[in-house]
Amino acid sequence: MNHNLTHLHPYPFAKMATLLSNSMPAHDYSEIKLGIGEPKHEPPAFVLDVLRENLDKISRYPTTNGMFELRQTIAHWLERRFFLNHVDAHKQVLPVMGTREAIFSLVQAVVNHEVVEAKDRTKTHQAAASRQSSVPSQAPTVVMPNPFYQIYEGAAILAEAAPYFVPCTLDNDFKGNYRAVPKDVWARTQLLFVCSPNNPTGAVMTMDDWEYLIRLSEQHDFIIASDECYSELYFDTAPIGLLQACAALGRHDFKRCIVFHSLSKRSNLPGLRSGFVAGDAKILQAYLQYRTYQGCAMPIPHQLASIAAWQDEKHVAHNRALYQEKFALWMAELGQLLELRMPEAGFYFWIKAPEQFDGDDEVFVKALYEQANIHALAGRYLSREVNGHNPGQGYVRIALVASVEESREAIGRIRQLLGA
Ligand SMILES: Cc1ncc(COP(=O)(O)O)c(C=O)c1O
Repeated sequence: MNHNLTHLHPYPFAKMATLLSNSMPAHDYSEIKLGIGEPKHEPPAFVLDVLRENLDKISRYPTTNGMFELRQTIAHWLERRFFLNHVDAHKQVLPVMGTREAIFSLVQAVVNHEVVEAKDRTKTHQAAASRQSSVPSQAPTVVMPNPFYQIYEGAAILAEAAPYFVPCTLDNDFKGNYRAVPKDVWARTQLLFVCSPNNPTGAVMTMDDWEYLIRLSEQHDFIIASDECYSELYFDTAPIGLLQACAALGRHDFKRCIVFHSLSKRSNLPGLRSGFVAGDAKILQAYLQYRTYQGCAMPIPHQLASIAAWQDEKHVAHNRALYQEKFALWMAELGQLLELRMPEAGFYFWIKAPEQFDGDDEVFVKALYEQANIHALAGRYLSREVNGHNPGQGYVRIALVASVEESREAIGRIRQLLGA
């Protein structure tokens, strides 16, 4: 077996299952799931119609780069959404089977062990990267936020790269203090993951943040991989994407920049497994070749359904309105009691565990389960301890995926739990 498999961490939900293995849920209550970030709003009916109407096309092999019509639709969507002059549907867009597999496989495709010696001119092998990981210090490095979507870390580990974690904490507005990353770490960095809007904190990168990172990537010659799969779940202002920032800086070739987008959260279609990767044509060309061997091609009915979904914004606005209603409800009913902080975007609350639960995320999620039959996620399971500090410890992630009715019910139970 691949020895790197032993370095993979259990998934956050596996840790939750262990935590709750000896607990009983409050049996007089129905179960409310706010732990997993699986959208629960209705998927658009017209998309499902397209899927049904084209099921006969399942008899054909899809191509790895997908139908031109899909790439063209995505290119137009990117142009409209991010104010881009032109996105080349032939070279700058690639459909993927959800962003999870793409995030994983992009890392496998780009990490290059041969350039490390050439790039690592400082030769300071006591780099912070080495203190953060069991992977050797001279390994290529993948920088990522902490807390994070765990695929970033697992992908780096299986590519034999060293993950380097940037803490996203209240004192840096949960965006990550990239300015504190040592130069020698940047020197060996091959890929930087950014998640904006961030899961779990809801933080969104500003134009200044993007400019700083884009210049860093030029200086140290690394790729920025921007996970933007929550970009359409915003309140007033649409988040600035990485490609938008590139264009604003005059970098219309999106050099070293790659974005990930998905229909899972935008259109409530997590089971369609449909997303795309876009950006630097040179990277995508090599990545397409990698994918040909990997064998991840989107079935034609899914591609046609995806075209319908990317062409429509009405259902997305409706989706946003539903989340807004729920956020308003939670803020009104629990804002003060739980010291809720509105995220800038996305569908998560990142909550400090209340004092009456010792400010402990595990104690709080256990109480939610045992006394209110509510599932939430302990923040420490979404992040890694570095130098004795786990930035997720003491936080709990609540996904506002349940219906408005269930949200009301959950709020009532939490108020009771808090003695309000
Ligand atoms: C931050 C983040 N990125 C990527 C994904 C993957 O989404 P999908 O594979 O459905 O596109 C998720 C899913 O929960 C996520 O939270």
